[in-house]
Amino acid sequence: MKLLVIGGGGREHALVWKLAQSKRVSKIYCAPGNAGIAELAECVAIVATDVAKLLAFALEKQIDFTVVGPEAPLCAGVVDAFEAKGLKIFGPRKAGARLEGSKVFCKQLFLKAGVPTGLAEIFSDPAAAKAYVRKVGAPIVVKADGLAAGKGVIVAQSVAEAEAGIVDIMEKRVFGDAGAQVVIEECLTGNEASVMAVTDGKTYRILAAAQDHKRIFDGDKGPNTGGMGTYSPTPMVTSALDGALDDIFTRTLAGLRAEGIEYRGVLYAGIMLTKQGPKLLEYNCRFGDPETQVVLPRMDFDLLDVLEACADGRLDRFQLNWKKDAAVCVVMAAPGYPGDYPKGQPIDGLKDAAALANVCVFHAGTKRSPGGQVLTDGGRVLGVTALGADLPAAVAQAYRAVEKIRFAGAQYRRDIAARALAR
Ligand code: AMP
Ligand code: GLY
Repeated sequence: MKLLVIGGGGREHALVWKLAQSKRVSKIYCAPGNAGIAELAECVAIVATDVAKLLAFALEKQIDFTVVGPEAPLCAGVVDAFEAKGLKIFGPRKAGARLEGSKVFCKQLFLKAGVPTGLAEIFSDPAAAKAYVRKVGAPIVVKADGLAAGKGVIVAQSVAEAEAGIVDIMEKRVFGDAGAQVVIEECLTGNEASVMAVTDGKTYRILAAAQDHKRIFDGDKGPNTGGMGTYSPTPMVTSALDGALDDIFTRTLAGLRAEGIEYRGVLYAGIMLTKQGPKLLEYNCRFGDPETQVVLPRMDFDLLDVLEACADGRLDRFQLNWKKDAAVCVVMAAPGYPGDYPKGQPIDGLKDAAALANVCVFHAGTKRSPGGQVLTDGGRVLGVTALGADLPAAVAQAYRAVEKIRFAGAQYRRDIAARALAR
């Protein structure tokens, strides 16, 4: 089979790496890919959001199956466009991708379907939003409705901070039309976990849970990022939560069906483990990044079989088996990230790191110079991932690999999985 993977980050490197292990795969293309992906797939210079070009490419190359990494092409309707031409593709259609593309749609679905979630109100008038914030007080969470590159959520510690957030989002429109509406939500406390499921719209299978580290600095300090490291399994998500998680995914799929949406793809639930039980913060309509980098290496099954079964509506025939091993991913980022950062710094030591046992260095933001040197090309540069017999072994091996890799100003957290190890 000829595959096309859309995207060019660490998640897509992990997807390509795992899909390449399937016996049925003869060739993988990746658009646009990166320097690491280029070792396993043929990279094509089409940006992930250019649906028309992606479609033309898939038709020309007679691609048998396409896997979509990021949310932007899903929200732009890449699945609808491919299906209209009879091409098989993994991911939700545009209507389903609204679960991530509109926080208002998502929240309304939670409320209608009885999915446990924080109390919230929806506003399209900034004055009314501010009045509500003054009435209920802080801490409080302000969320822009639409996609805002991961920056549209403000966990405000004071009423003034929440009001400033409303001004930025709704009046100054710093995220454009994404700020036409806001969701104002109670602030939940507890540990956060990422629980992904794959679904064909009727059946779902929950993937091994993972924990992300969103803040840039050790000890969960500093600004939010796309994710600075992950590990799986997590001691926070025990089998005692199975019933609650089943209830969440069952209600979500029923709620989507009630809207006339047959959702095929990944449901990535961002969950807060509160004292009252798990509550949904949000859904993403795609695999997590860098959650994918630790979940895929633990899969003891053929990922292509399962993703294809989702697209074909026959997931009920599959049970997913997992390796006992633990996986840890340490993200190495460019200096200055998540703010402005330089690009084009040479990266050394990649071969030495990859030569270590049970280590995979997934590339996130990299490119190759004309002379063949791997250069930094993004904020998150690498996801250095290791498997181990248990979490301490995986942590130790991941950091052994990190220490082999050098680029100017590289920053990474030293405490990935530390809280789990301390338990
Ligand atoms: P989201 O983009 O919805 O994932 O939100 C980004 C981050 O904001 C989440 O990962 C949480 O850390 C935080 N967050 C979102 N909603 C809440 C809430 N109701 N209470 C506390 N923190 C929240
Ligand atoms: N790791 C967070 C995300 O993928 O959204």
